[in-house]
Amino acid sequence: MTSAWDEFQEQIKAQMMEIYSETVVDHTLNPRNLGSFPDADGYANITGPCGDTMEMWLKLDGNIIIKAGFITDGCGTTIASGSMVTEIVKDKSLAEALKISQKDVLDALGGLPEESEHCALLASNTLKAAIRDCLAMQKEPWKKAYRKY
Ligand code: FES
Repeated sequence: MTSAWDEFQEQIKAQMMEIYSETVVDHTLNPRNLGSFPDADGYANITGPCGDTMEMWLKLDGNIIIKAGFITDGCGTTIASGSMVTEIVKDKSLAEALKISQKDVLDALGGLPEESEHCALLASNTLKAAIRDCLAMQKEPWKKAYRKY
């Protein structure tokens, strides 16, 4: 038996599907890799031109990214973008991951409305900054002891 709440959720989903791809709706309503984790090998906190912020954590095995997490105070499409970029980066080398672009995130999401495309850029820029942090930490691992994330 479906409740009024279930029906309400279905209505919201149907409205979202008029604007966004099924993948965007899925990643917005069921974001993957949401949250931080201890002992990350790289971290970034980036604020986009719209004022929204994304934080990202990466865990490495050698030069391979084995785990990624994110949080954001942005809108649904920012959540979908963070969710997608933390999925597609898994099992990539740092060099491969550095090549992940806004377009890659948009393609994986099945596109975003033009006014939301910058959300994918925030996600790919946050990933790049977290990768640069991984590389910096590899050069100077002693700095990790002073990290507060
Ligand atoms: Fe600001 Fe999406 S509206 S990143």
